Amino acid sequence: MGERKFLGIGMLGAGWMGRAHTNAYHTARYMFWAKSNWEPRLITIGGIDEKEGKEAAARFGYESGVAGYKQIIENPAIDIFDNVTPDPMHAQPSIDAALHGKHVVCEKPLAVRVEDAKRMLDAVNEAGVKNLCCFCYRFLPAVRLAYELIQSGTLGKIYHFSGKYYQDAGSATETPAEDIWYINWSGIAQGITSHLIDMSRFLIGEVSTVNGLAVVYNKMRESKKGPVNVTADEGFFGMLEFTNGVSGVLQSLGVANGKRSELSFEIYGSKGSILWDVQEPNFLHVYLAETVNPKVVGFTRVCVTEPNHPFMDVWWPKGHTLGWEHAHINMLAHFMDCVANDKPVAPLGATFEDGYKVAVIIETLNESAIQGQKLELKYT
Ligand SMILES: NC(=O)c1ccc[n+]([C@@H]2O[C@H](COP(=O)([O-])OP(=O)(O)OC[C@H]3O[C@@H](n4cnc5c(N)ncnc54)[C@H](O)[C@@H]3O)[C@@H](O)[C@H]2O)c1
Repeated sequence: MGERKFLGIGMLGAGWMGRAHTNAYHTARYMFWAKSNWEPRLITIGGIDEKEGKEAAARFGYESGVAGYKQIIENPAIDIFDNVTPDPMHAQPSIDAALHGKHVVCEKPLAVRVEDAKRMLDAVNEAGVKNLCCFCYRFLPAVRLAYELIQSGTLGKIYHFSGKYYQDAGSATETPAEDIWYINWSGIAQGITSHLIDMSRFLIGEVSTVNGLAVVYNKMRESKKGPVNVTADEGFFGMLEFTNGVSGVLQSLGVANGKRSELSFEIYGSKGSILWDVQEPNFLHVYLAETVNPKVVGFTRVCVTEPNHPFMDVWWPKGHTLGWEHAHINMLAHFMDCVANDKPVAPLGATFEDGYKVAVIIETLNESAIQGQKLELKYT
């Protein structure tokens, strides 16, 4: 594909997702080689301090490790700034990076506060840089096949979206507050409902009204410093109306005992239906009302690993499956292709506009829960 374009990568954050994104850059380079004209170069990683930055650089294969992000955004060799810090840290480094002309990748949720998400959106628009909010599940082959089936009209008129994201970190009443990720961070709504909202918008379309319910099941928890009041939501639910008339129900829980991390959806249409669960990511369950043999009816468990399935042209022979990390690899490969070839990140990738809209939907669901009534969405 002609001369290869080197893309300098600067990452902020060296935790779990720092590993996932670094793995994605390394792997995308050789797996997408035959159909790409870009090549990531891992230049600098920033940690909470210099020690973390240097250790991460040595382990992950970056040329240097630093404290914080100033040296990353000021380095002209860096094209893409990848922010994988905790949720409350997303806004300012991403804004500063955009204003220094870097293309910006930011983990979800884009920001905990709508005002910050809007500032981030304004910054990337003003700077004219490519931007990606990491709603990674869009990039699993089965989810992309679901998207294609809806877009092509194969399922007919879509009636309903039902989505669940269940985890169990907070199930045991005696688990100390510090050991529950969603209490330390920003609650179930920001942590996992955000993924569900993005999935519903990606597959179905824009949301017009919401009706929310937010629940804290254990309002008091033990902690290493003694009992603490808990305000972070542990259950977050929503009824949605989409502008195209589709209805939606979202259910997310941090106390679903035994459910480690189960994102699933069901979509019902006039000609067919689809079901998917991230715990079996390679299988899309498809029901098509019209079949070649009227006695052979019901849901088919489609193994989305055929060469003509989304992304499978770069992966393994049919029947050889993909996992969670491949969502990140496919997503960052898409972003690098957009940067190298000046292609739009949307609609297949989630942009900062998508991240901002998810933030508005969460805030409106929260407000609706407080007011006890259905509310219309308003974007500024
Ligand atoms: N898309 C997904 O599937 C997915 C999954 C899990 C987490 N996430 C998101 O990824 C982000 C990171 O989560 P994580 O689980 O990797 O967190 P983590 O706690 O494992 O790692 C965060 C890293 O950021 C560093 N850090 C914190 N503040 C910093 C600062 N001011 N400057 C530099 N570094 C700083 C920490 O030292 C740590 O290395 C979060 O926004 C989270 O919601 C996304």
